[in-house]
Amino acid sequence: MQMKLLDGKKCAEHLVADISLKVAGYVASGLRKPHMTIILVGKHAPSESYVKSKIVSCEKAGFEGNLIRLPEEINEAELLERIHGINNDQTTDGLIVQLPVPKHIDQQNIINAIAPEKDIDGFHPTNFGRMTLGQKAFRPATAYGICKLLQFYEIPIKGKHCVVIGRSNIVGKPISIMLSNDFDIGNATVTLTHIETPRELLLDETRRADIVIVAVGIPGFVTEDMVKPGVVLIDVGINRLENGKLVGDVDFENVAPKCSWITPVPGGVGRMTVAALMINTLMAYQNNFNLA
Ligand code: GUN
Repeated sequence: MQMKLLDGKKCAEHLVADISLKVAGYVASGLRKPHMTIILVGKHAPSESYVKSKIVSCEKAGFEGNLIRLPEEINEAELLERIHGINNDQTTDGLIVQLPVPKHIDQQNIINAIAPEKDIDGFHPTNFGRMTLGQKAFRPATAYGICKLLQFYEIPIKGKHCVVIGRSNIVGKPISIMLSNDFDIGNATVTLTHIETPRELLLDETRRADIVIVAVGIPGFVTEDMVKPGVVLIDVGINRLENGKLVGDVDFENVAPKCSWITPVPGGVGRMTVAALMINTLMAYQNNFNLA
């Protein structure tokens, strides 16, 4: 079987180009540009690179991208005050607080403070709940990006058996809900596995899966013996090795030959997360201006 790459870079560029055309039309009609604000607290090397790619993508989409850097020592009350200020600022459509925040700040309190109509990450309980119920919502960006990538390559999902490894609130949990929902990109039969799943059960599941999505943050976690020939493999991991190399959660070299489709790292899901954020920001903007 010929393995093919799910090229997140190509798909993301296509989506962002499409968004930029829409934005150019809105701006030509006299409206302001869509505006994304990102708050970055303290210093965290992976966050620096994620935030940079979000700002670059804003430029490509024709958005205003605004990065607010806050010191590591900021306390929770001060950070909440900044968030409330942006919630009330009519010129910002979408607000992201880059995670993780420093340990002395309660992450869930921060997520809960973001106005749901500006929550382009889709992490607020209102959006997460609406998404779960199949209602219109901002969908969590990485999970949404995976869906858009599968859609771009016309990978069949309806009726397929999908196994998700990892139950994080930002990836594993939402993607398992989205793919099992009666969504345009959904209707799969999904098994959500996690750190407490016994190894034998995990192998039973992954070996009969049509689609495997792994988001555990462990290099080489998915090995060749864990999947069936022809599997579609989505690798969400972004791990920096000691030698500086960036790798995913899949032993790519040995697993890829067995796959029908697989995402590379880098150039796979990471690019799609940013593209999905752009889609969500455009939606926030369109909601603000009552655009279709
Ligand atoms: N940190 C890692 N991934 C994400 C994400 O999708 N959104 C935010 N806000 N922080 C992150």
